[in-house]
Order: sequence, then structure tokens, then C-alpha cells
Amino acid sequence: MTTSTSICCIGAGYVGGPTMAMIAKQCPDIPVRVVDLNQSRIDQWNSDNLPVYEPGLDEVVKEARGRNLFFSTDVQKCIQESSIIFIAVNTPTKSFGVGAGRAANLEFIEKCARTIAECSTGHKIVVEKSTLPVRTAEAVKRILHSSASGATFDVLSNPEFLAEGTAVEDLLKPDRVLIGGESSAAIETLAKVYERWIPRDKILTTNLWSSELSKLTANAFLAQRVSSINAISALCEATGADVDEVARAIGTDSRIGPKFLKASVGFGGSCFQKDILNLVYLCEHFGLKEVAQYWEQVVCMNDYQKRRFSARIVRTMFNTVSDKKIAILGFAFKKDTNDTRESAAIHVCRDLLDERARLSIYDPRVPESQIRNDLQLAFSDALGGLSDKHKQLIDKNVTVHKSLLEATRDSHAIAVLTEWDEFKSFDGKQVFDSMYRPAFLFDGRNVVNRQQLTEIGFEVHSIGRASEVLL
Ligand code: UDX
Ligand code: ADP
Repeated sequence: MTTSTSICCIGAGYVGGPTMAMIAKQCPDIPVRVVDLNQSRIDQWNSDNLPVYEPGLDEVVKEARGRNLFFSTDVQKCIQESSIIFIAVNTPTKSFGVGAGRAANLEFIEKCARTIAECSTGHKIVVEKSTLPVRTAEAVKRILHSSASGATFDVLSNPEFLAEGTAVEDLLKPDRVLIGGESSAAIETLAKVYERWIPRDKILTTNLWSSELSKLTANAFLAQRVSSINAISALCEATGADVDEVARAIGTDSRIGPKFLKASVGFGGSCFQKDILNLVYLCEHFGLKEVAQYWEQVVCMNDYQKRRFSARIVRTMFNTVSDKKIAILGFAFKKDTNDTRESAAIHVCRDLLDERARLSIYDPRVPESQIRNDLQLAFSDALGGLSDKHKQLIDKNVTVHKSLLEATRDSHAIAVLTEWDEFKSFDGKQVFDSMYRPAFLFDGRNVVNRQQLTEIGFEVHSIGRASEVLL
């Protein structure tokens, strides 16, 4: 049995990698081993080209890697050597069987629990880091307790609240750390790790189920705010109000607050939609039909917002984008990340490709292979099959570029889909001169300098603001 604290994290993704790097940085005496089945991901973590792009992360990893931070594919050995085991594997929405499209797929969590049960000896604290449906800990506990090796376990829920793009800052100064569990000794052991750099009053402890539900609820509330302001953006476009002005006006009410009120083409990311659907599934399971419908509407509104954006592009461009070149600026689901999961860009691109537009895509961080992969998946059926016609459509109509200038050259329109800083202040004159007329710009993030670009000659269409040209 290991006496001093040592950590293993299963899953070297967007959550596991940065979180463990920060723990290793702050606790140089605690060995932190991050394991994953994916060899190339581990190789990347051990290289200068990390698989996750996050501002400031390179420095944190460089400081700790090789000292007390290790990346490996030897899952069993690392579990055996550690006293605390974090589970940070992916929990995508189920795409098949019962609960498809709503419930979380817990296959990866269950496999982890079985591996831990098989190879553990002595006592281990197992920590759920991945966002999970309420009462998953119960299933994890049952699998662990069936361990034939005689090992004993405490299970804790310690959800991660970091947002991508600001992960390092969020990990350094979190609003709170939440630890849910039944054993106060296990809670205390984990709290002691965080206490190295986080004030004790920010470490909240609850029972297991409250902790699991708090994570789903936090994401549901945040997503709800975005859908609420996006709903108002549709009304602004119809009435002549300006959604950014409305957001500023309501955000100054201290009860409402200014954050998460930025209207956009729609929220994305691996958490919001998945967690809400999870919540909806949970409510339905407990017969709470009205509660389920209430939360589901947040996702419906987001789908509507994405569709509305592509429809507006088509309508504005004289009801046809067929064979027109549209420059897509940004493919990541938000700035400062290379993550594209559930990105609004995928949906908008799919709609425009359906209309036979030619897309020239530029994102500062997302590789071409990822963009093509996402678009192929967007056109695939439930079993992942892609028809030849759709494959050809993507191959023929999509080009991926290495700069904004390349992507926008000879285009009929620009659609800004991610709020990357470089899209806020590009050389408007140079871009305008290389485009067809009218030079349309659809700002899905309200980040461009609208007045300046309009003066240059662009026809700018923003979210939540009526178009000045009659449609
Ligand atoms: C979210 C939660 O914020 C985080 O606490 C949790 O751990 C994981 O899920 P993340 O998805 O990484 O984090 O990013 P977030 O900043 O929440 O943005 C989610 C989406 O909402 C993005 O597509 C973003 O562009 C969009 N958004 C956010 C808006 O459209 N408007 C806003 O005002 C805020
Ligand atoms: P998140 O955003 O939740 O971190 P990611 O998909 O970025 O999700 O990362 C999850 C990681 O977990 C992936 O790299 C995947 O290979 C890894 N993983 C999934 N199942 C297992 C498992 N049983 N053992 C080890 N690693 C796993």
C-alpha cells in the first residue's frame, strides 16, 4: 500500500492533461502520472508540440515534466504505483441504443473502473473528474468493490470547472474546487493537494450526488444564459434593437451580472450540449417531464441560432450561395483553443455545403485534418457511414488555408465563426480589394470593427442587429 500521496490520471485529454500539469507544478513532491491508451497523444505530451493548445500551458508542462509529471501508456503500472487515481476520460453523448442522443456513453468510465479494480492492491482513492450523470459514482463503486484483489476504495467526485482557452488561469485561481464524497478522510486527502495553492475557503465539500449534479447544473445555467441572449438577438434583428447594447444594459444590474451575455452564432464545446442532454435524460428517467422540456429548450434554441445564421447568409446573398466562395474565419468552438467539438462552425459549414457553396476555411490553431474529419462526421449517418456524394462534396468544395488573406481572396462573402483576436483587426482594405462585390461579411461573434469595415465598403451583418440593407 502506498503511504505518501502519488497521483495517476487516466485520460490525457483537454481536462486530464492541463489539470494534472497544474497539480504537478504546484506540488513538486507529488509524482503525477498521466496515462492514456492513445500512444500518439502520449507522444505529443512528451514532445514540444502538445496535443492541447492552451495559452500558458507549454510553460507549466515544461516546468514539471520529467521532474514529477510523467506521461505514459502503461496504465496498469501507473495505477499500481499511485494512491489517488483520477478518471478523466471522455463521456460523449450516446449515439446508439437506449438513450441515444441524450444519455452519456459511460463505456470508457466503466472500462477504467474495471482496469482499476483488476490491478489495484491496498487502498486507493478514485476520483471522478469527467462530467458524469448523477449517480455514476454508484456504478463505479460497485465495479471497484467487486475487485478480486482485495483492494479497498473510496470514490470521490471532483468535477472540473475549467473553461478551454483559459484553462491555466482557471486552474491557478478557480472560483471554487468541489469535492463530493462519503469518506471525510478521503475528502481531506484530496483537499490537502488543492490546498497547496488554493485557499481553503474555496474548497467546497458536499455529498457525492450533489457534487455530480452541481457540475451539470453549472453548465446548464451557463448555457442557458447564452441561449437567452441569443433568443433576444433574434428579436433585436427583427425590431432594430442592438443585442450588444441590450446585454450591456442588463449586465449592469448586479443581480444579472455582465458575464456570459455575448450573443453568438451558438455555443459549442464538449460540455454544454452534452451536459444539458444528460440532465434532460435524468429528468425524464425520474418522470419530471416539464423539467426535462424546460432544459431541452436551451439546446433547441442553440440549434435554431446556428440554423438561423446560415439561413441569413443564404437569404442575404440573393437566396443562393451555390458555387460562391465563402471564407470561413474560425473553426474552433471558441478562441484560444484547438478544440472543435460541437463547434457552431461545423453546423454552419454543413448547411452551406448543402447549398453547394465553396468554402475556404482558416483557423489559426485547428489542423486541416481535424476540419475535414469534422465535416465528414457532420455528413455521416448514425453508424458513421459517409456517402460517396458527400465525400466528393467535401473534397471538391472545401479548401483549408494558412492565413486570413489566403482564405478571403476572391471570395463573395466572409463568415466569422470564432472570435480569434486576429479577426478583430485585419487589414480590411486589402481584403476588400480582393473580394467580389457586394463584399458581404457575416459576423457570427460581433467582433469585427463594423463601422470601419462598412466605411471601406463591406456589407456587414452582425448577430442581434438589423441589417441596414433591406433583405
Ligand atoms: C464550459 C464551462 O464554462 C466550464 O466551467 C466547464 O468546465 C466546461 O464547459 P468551455 O466549454 O470550455 O467551458 O467554454 P465556455 O467559455 O464556457 O464557452 C462555451 C461556449 O459558449 C463557446 O462556444 C463560447 O463561444 C460560447 N459562449 C460563451 C457564447 O457564445 N457567449 C458567451 O457569452 C459565452
Ligand atoms: P476531455 O475533454 O474530457 O478531457 P478528451 O477526449 O480530450 O476528453 O480526453 C479523454 C482521453 O481519455 C482521450 O485521450 C482517450 O484516449 C482517453 N481514454 C478513454 N478511455 C480510456 C481508458 N480506458 N484508458 C485510458 N485512457 C482512456
